[in-house]
Amino acid sequence: MEYRELGRTGMTTSVMGVGTGGPSRVGLRDGGSDDGAVEVIRRAIDSGVTFIDTAEAYRTEEVVARAIHDVPRDSLQISTKISRWQDLDAAGIEASVDERLRALGTDYLDVCHLHAVTIDRYNEVIERLYPGLVRAREAGKVRFLGVTEMFNGDPGHEMLARALDDDYWDVVMVGFNILNQSARERVLEATQAKGIGVLAMFVVRLALSRRERLVEVVDELVDRGELDEALLRELGGSREDPLGWVVERTDAASLVDAAYRFVRHEPGIDVTLSGTGSLDHLLANIESLDRPPLDPQVAEQLRRLFARVDSVTAQ
Ligand SMILES: NC(=O)c1ccc[n+]([C@@H]2O[C@H](COP(=O)([O-])OP(=O)(O)OC[C@H]3O[C@@H](n4cnc5c(N)ncnc54)[C@H](OP(=O)(O)O)[C@@H]3O)[C@@H](O)[C@H]2O)c1
Repeated sequence: MEYRELGRTGMTTSVMGVGTGGPSRVGLRDGGSDDGAVEVIRRAIDSGVTFIDTAEAYRTEEVVARAIHDVPRDSLQISTKISRWQDLDAAGIEASVDERLRALGTDYLDVCHLHAVTIDRYNEVIERLYPGLVRAREAGKVRFLGVTEMFNGDPGHEMLARALDDDYWDVVMVGFNILNQSARERVLEATQAKGIGVLAMFVVRLALSRRERLVEVVDELVDRGELDEALLRELGGSREDPLGWVVERTDAASLVDAAYRFVRHEPGIDVTLSGTGSLDHLLANIESLDRPPLDPQVAEQLRRLFARVDSVTAQ
């Protein structure tokens, strides 16, 4: 596992982060057990992963607490999110931080985010809620403040582009993957210039892990004119098998492997989040994130093919 600094925070973290939300919730979404979820998180930690992401809404803070209880706290970076901020005031935010600490069985959060903030609520978040986060930080309960976008409703990053005009956030979580690379210009240029730490989510999601979903997404993109079918064909793809050529022409073990490596080596991405309920997938993903970048020519072709896309998330 490689390690790097998370933006200007000065905090060193593994380049892979375990995501405990998303379509898997470490297996809990598919009826998996708490013990199984704890085992996945523990196996990640034993393999060198130090960054763990959870949230109030995922209801996985308790399994994270069980997985980390006997691990030296300063060897981990724990990131969680206040999900139900919509009706809170600043005091409510401070109370929610206390709840997150209780649920996680820890006395500080490395990163506390406001979860899935939308552009229409952004000004209100800053005026009404941000002071509560600052007080939690001053009290030593939170080290760094973060904001995450609602990628499904905001695949073009309107909220984060707005948030990066100011200097309120130490860390942001952004949707970025082979299919929607619009964050490169709209988010990553500014975060790199300002030294803001970046966590990448939606790296494979469903469209890059299930071929039938990829076919549907590519159909949509071609029909909307965001993806050039002639270029897709020129590169060796088709609507029926859009990205098989990526695996054929590189050393990638699978499209999932290619998808994780594409994001992990993108300049400006500090932590690549991976969500899974399967130990086999976890170990494969750890391997992917340890592997070198994809063949540069194929990576460039992927940049060209999806250059105009900003409407899908890989959901
Ligand atoms: N707005 C927000 O703040 C927000 C939104 C979304 C996500 N997040 C965070 O970002 C994290 C990462 O997002 P994500 O969970 O969507 O992660 P992801 O890694 O992009 O996608 C996870 C999906 O891919 C599958 N998968 C993972 N590894 C695989 C493999 N090797 N082979 C085949 N399928 C594989 C998983 O199924 P299996 O369980 O079967 O492996 C799951 O369905 C979340 O867990 C959460 O912490 C934050």
